[in-house]
Amino acid sequence: MTAPSLWQPITVGRMHLPHRLALAPMTRNRAQPDGTPGELASEYYAQRASLGLLITEGTQPSADGQGYLLSPGIHTPAHVAGWRTVAEAVHAAGGHLVLQLMHAGRLGHPDNTPHHRLPVGPSAVSAGQQIPTPTGMQETPVPRALEATEIPGVIDEFRHAAACAIEAGADAVEVHAANGYLLHQFLSTDANQRTDDYGGSVEDRARLAVEVTRAVAQEIGADRTGVRISPAFGLGGLDEGDAEAVHTQYLHLTHRLVQLDLAYLHVHHRGDDDLLRAIRDAWPSVLLVVRKDRTREQVADDIEAGLADMAPLGRSALANPDIVERLRTGAPFNEVDKATIYGGTAVGYTDYPTLSRV
Ligand SMILES: Cc1cc2nc3c(=O)[nH]c(=O)nc-3n(C[C@H](O)[C@H](O)[C@H](O)COP(=O)(O)O)c2cc1C
Repeated sequence: MTAPSLWQPITVGRMHLPHRLALAPMTRNRAQPDGTPGELASEYYAQRASLGLLITEGTQPSADGQGYLLSPGIHTPAHVAGWRTVAEAVHAAGGHLVLQLMHAGRLGHPDNTPHHRLPVGPSAVSAGQQIPTPTGMQETPVPRALEATEIPGVIDEFRHAAACAIEAGADAVEVHAANGYLLHQFLSTDANQRTDDYGGSVEDRARLAVEVTRAVAQEIGADRTGVRISPAFGLGGLDEGDAEAVHTQYLHLTHRLVQLDLAYLHVHHRGDDDLLRAIRDAWPSVLLVVRKDRTREQVADDIEAGLADMAPLGRSALANPDIVERLRTGAPFNEVDKATIYGGTAVGYTDYPTLSRV
């Protein structure tokens, strides 16, 4: 059997997609102060609709889930109304919208949120990171460890946010268990020093990610639920141990997620191809794989090698709204303007030229 090409259609849960590309989730810090998506968000996402599957920037499921300045939320009626405008614009342009639910956990700062509360985490262990705040870069504080009695509430925040996303017209939801945020913090041996049912063993460290995903899937349908993981990715100061420990932790998690019959698994892959192969072999539905810094020649490699079904694009799609056409035709790419990635105006957001506008 020949491997599928980048240009073959694919079905992901309820979504029928024209090819194997997608927009990777990217935080842009342009929401309104109350977390409602900014006025340009509809245009930004609709411009990229030819990517088919658009995974949004990380979006907090609750006030405590916010870590960065001006990140959007999906837990109030205003958020639902704002995202509805985005979903309608994306659908009108022929795309599908997947909202990424991101609880930042300890990767935050009281100065970044309207409520100014201390970030929460699995344990009172600082990420030891410098993060942007309104007064410049500051160290992440020691978080407040979540009480065992608070954990059902956190799970319920994700469930409620997923319901809000679907109410807003999103096609699906991606649970963010990657990149150093709350669910990844629970997976990690150093950030998670709990001795209750949510820490201490491989099974217990995976429990919150599994329970959150199960609650989301029960709420909106497993065929509208995906999960993102990033094994061994140390972003946010995490250390998950040696390759064997990472392998054990993530294969356990993968097997637990398999039981939920989800639409897809999304791996932000950082290098261990043996682990990626093992996840591929264990995962029965669609597998999305992002590798940082792929060249345009490498975009299809994992699909052609049978290691992935889809290849979401991050920065290249940020700077090229018509990246699909550029890849198809061999046209050159715009470069990313690093100065305008996070926050700001239309500059570096909705004004990247398309081929027809160059
Ligand atoms: C500006 C920026 C913001 C990002 N924000 C998120 C995010 O909110 N959620 C997430 O899961 N990954 C996030 N990522 C990671 C990307 O989804 C992607 O995995 C990474 O950029 C590597 O892909 P690339 O080389 O195609 O850019 C972000 C990356 C960038 C560059």
